[in-house]
Amino acid sequence: MTEQQYDLAVIGAGPGGYHAAVRAAQYGAKVALIEKKYVGGTCLNRGCIPTKALYASAHMIEKVEEAGEFGVEITDFKVDFAKAVDRKNKIVQELVEGIAALENAWKNDIFIGHGKINGGIPETGFEISIQSEDNRLINAKRVIIATGSSPALIPAFNIDHKRILTSDDILDPNFKIVPKRLLIIGAGVIGCEFANIFNKFGSNVIMLEYLPTPIATEEPMIVKQLQKKFQSLGIEINVSQNVLSVENTGSGVKVTTCSASVPRDQVEGAEKFTFEADLCLVSIGRAKESSNIGLEEMGIKTDRGAIKVNPKTLETAAKGIYAIGDVTGGLMLAHVAYHEADVAVANALASIGGFPVHEMTPDYNIVPATIFTSPNIGSVGLRRKVAKDRGIDILMGQFPYQSLGKAKCMGEEEGFIMVLAEKQTHKIIGASCIGTEAPELIAEIALAMQHGLTVHDVAETIHSHPTVSEMVLEGCEAVVGKAIHKKGRPIHH
Ligand code: FAD
Ligand code: NAI
Repeated sequence: MTEQQYDLAVIGAGPGGYHAAVRAAQYGAKVALIEKKYVGGTCLNRGCIPTKALYASAHMIEKVEEAGEFGVEITDFKVDFAKAVDRKNKIVQELVEGIAALENAWKNDIFIGHGKINGGIPETGFEISIQSEDNRLINAKRVIIATGSSPALIPAFNIDHKRILTSDDILDPNFKIVPKRLLIIGAGVIGCEFANIFNKFGSNVIMLEYLPTPIATEEPMIVKQLQKKFQSLGIEINVSQNVLSVENTGSGVKVTTCSASVPRDQVEGAEKFTFEADLCLVSIGRAKESSNIGLEEMGIKTDRGAIKVNPKTLETAAKGIYAIGDVTGGLMLAHVAYHEADVAVANALASIGGFPVHEMTPDYNIVPATIFTSPNIGSVGLRRKVAKDRGIDILMGQFPYQSLGKAKCMGEEEGFIMVLAEKQTHKIIGASCIGTEAPELIAEIALAMQHGLTVHDVAETIHSHPTVSEMVLEGCEAVVGKAIHKKGRPIHH
């Protein structure tokens, strides 16, 4: 067995891992990137990108359905899910190849196989085995673990990958079925995005959620708007449902629930509800991929699978070994993994010395979140309840898409933006938006917050007209009663 020497070994080539590898190479480090399944990780292969490709097809259907209003009569159009999947597969393949090419261009070595840390210390480097047909050993001065996550599997849900599926199954390149009836367990981000997609492709979608509300992390007003839209589309969301069993009946699936308010010890005698469908998607969160990578041997602790790190450095309990992304159990978002990659690389290389980097600390104050349903959702910063709980006095401005010229032209009048500012300083502390381009709009608010700007700073910045970006301008103006295209009262000193 050969033992190649590296400055940095990165285990896992998802957004966290591939980003860390490129960043480290930019600083001049010699990097090994180890991946057991697919370069690009969940994000490119079974997450962000394939879902957004399918969302784009679903959105196209919506636009074609509305085309008549725009003076474009499209009669007799056909929806072809298999073709949409082929398009999705092509996008994924191109992006995956692009990432591999990028790593090659930076002269990073990509090893395909299961990475495991065998031992070592920062002074001598760490030995890592790469298990594949052709087993390899490498040595690296520092290690970043970026092994990500996979769909959470609950034994009672009998996930058989035939009729009872995870998001990985649905995003498999060969999954080309539109079920007549689709049951979705878990009305979180994944559940809502798939409900939207399959509804547009013709499925009858029923959702079951344990909590009293879907996407509980978002502002209640935003959730209400989405619920209203889903209802109008015929997507049924059943909240407060305790799923007791999920069964493949041979010809379909049968799910039995009782009310989530029934105490655990009284479930047996409680009233039961049954739901039937052709397929069932279980989207109830993600499990961290932290087993069999040498954590125990290195004295690295986990909490329900999540690797524990020093929150200031992202270093684990083993000096010289860092962990980033989903496997650390924080916010499971690709852009969070990117940010953590920057931090871990800076700290790892700074600790070796001789690289043009300074130590970094992660900053989670401003993390935009997006949900690609129709309408889109975007949010950043504090929610109203959190601000209230923290005793922050707030001002809120709201502005509807229906008052925006560009949105009207686009036929995208649904939704609104709400901007929150600190009452005393008028500094922006958060915003939520539901409607067209919401995720893009929230990026401007994130930038404003990153630089401590007030609603006036944004409002005094000329936004071109007519654009959707004026939603941000008017939303900020609305905070201080100055939105031009909205009725209000005179401003007093
Ligand atoms: P991952 O992307 O999971 O990558 C980890 C990689 O490590 C994998 O390729 C895995 O094979 C590999 N690996 C694991 N163990 C080993 C080992 N021992 N040796 C070698 N390799 C190993 N986030 C967003 O920000 N926006 C979105 O729109 C979005 N949509 C999503 C849609 C879905 C359906 C899902 C499931 C997730 C979505 N996410 C989205 C979340 C996003 O995909 C994750 O937050 C992101 O991929 C995490 O990156 P990561 O690098 O930490 O882990
Ligand atoms: P999630 O945490 O968003 O939602 C899971 C939902 O399932 C929750 O509402 C939860 O209450 C519910 N649930 C849990 N157990 C249940 C049970 N036994 N019965 C019924 N309901 C149950 O997790 P999800 O949707 O699986 O997504 C995982 C992660 O992927 C998210 O945390 C998100 O960060 C990321 N993601 C991001 C996207 C984006 O940024 N656009 C898109 C998709 C996923």
